[in-house]
Amino acid sequence: FEVMWDAAAADKGGWPSFMAKEVSEEPEAVANTLRGRVRDGQIVIPELDGLDELFVGIDRVIVIACGTAAYAGQVGKYALEQWTRVPVDVELAHEFRYRDPVIGPNTLIVSISQSGETMDTLMAVKYARERGARTLSICNTQGATIPRESDAIIYTHAGPEVAVASTKAFVAQITALYLLALHVARVRGSISATEVAQHVLELEAIPDKISQILEREQSRIEQFAHWMADTRSVLFLGRHVGYPIALEGALKLKEISYIHAEGFAAGELKHGPIALIEPGQPVFVIVPSPRESSELHKKVVSNIQEIRARGARVIVIAEEGDAAVLPFADEVLRIPLAGPFFEPLLAVVPLHIFAMGLATAKGLDVDQPRNLAKSVTVE
Ligand code: G6P
Repeated sequence: FEVMWDAAAADKGGWPSFMAKEVSEEPEAVANTLRGRVRDGQIVIPELDGLDELFVGIDRVIVIACGTAAYAGQVGKYALEQWTRVPVDVELAHEFRYRDPVIGPNTLIVSISQSGETMDTLMAVKYARERGARTLSICNTQGATIPRESDAIIYTHAGPEVAVASTKAFVAQITALYLLALHVARVRGSISATEVAQHVLELEAIPDKISQILEREQSRIEQFAHWMADTRSVLFLGRHVGYPIALEGALKLKEISYIHAEGFAAGELKHGPIALIEPGQPVFVIVPSPRESSELHKKVVSNIQEIRARGARVIVIAEEGDAAVLPFADEVLRIPLAGPFFEPLLAVVPLHIFAMGLATAKGLDVDQPRNLAKSVTVE
């Protein structure tokens, strides 16, 4: 036992947990997933060489995945649909197979799985393939079963992820989806080379921006996570690409700190969730950039006012310089400026740190949460 413990401790590279190490590796996870796939500002994915036909004539994309990978899919949907102009749905793998979905030879199934072994996702891919759909796998594990069962593969190069709750794989999955979206959009002619080059610049800037968040905000987030160790419920609100980030923030908290947590689309607040707000209720709000959409930004700020008026404790994640949130926030976590599709790669980082900080403050094993497995190989 002692030997095994020592080996594991060595792999943590001095970090208190694998999760802490893996969150610190989020910048590299993005950088390594981009590496070798950008040339002169354009996307070149060697694994997709000679596979252009896979994307010609597709009339529908369905992203299938489970857990955190499904939230990466939900983030990716916005850019994939915007850039390729092909309708995109995201579906949980275990739901997909049991409802006789409309799929055929012009459907592209994009599966996302860190392990590449999740049985629900594997069975959904096989099911789609048997019905003639085209299949592409985004996976972090070389030679895993799901990529072997797919027509094409884009590997995320996040490196081995040991902690059960996924962190660095999530940002790598979004990165890979964006690479795929830009590639498909070029093949289909729905985007110009100039636009691709702009998005590539945004992507290439992400690793440094994540590093800035880790440097500037990590200890402060850990500190207030510590103060919140007795919290019984936390809510997360987001809009547009911030919505799946709210879901991911809530999932992480459930997984490792066993606290009731829910994510909502901010626009849905008035249709029900606002009834949950009582004095002291902590609510994280992911605020869209005012530069990109002043309308969306205004709406989310007014959501913040509504919950604040009912006594919520508001923790805002907003871009640097956004002063409109200041009067209504108990805490403001800053993220560097980024284009509209790229904010999620930044906004999720404080949420990963928060979940980890809270679980640590409760004295829990952040790497091996109760009842969960890293890879679920049964249906
Ligand atoms: C399990 C893990 C989750 C993970 C999900 C999908 O439920 O506990 O953290 O998000 O599987 O895993 P995959 O390997 O397919 O990405």
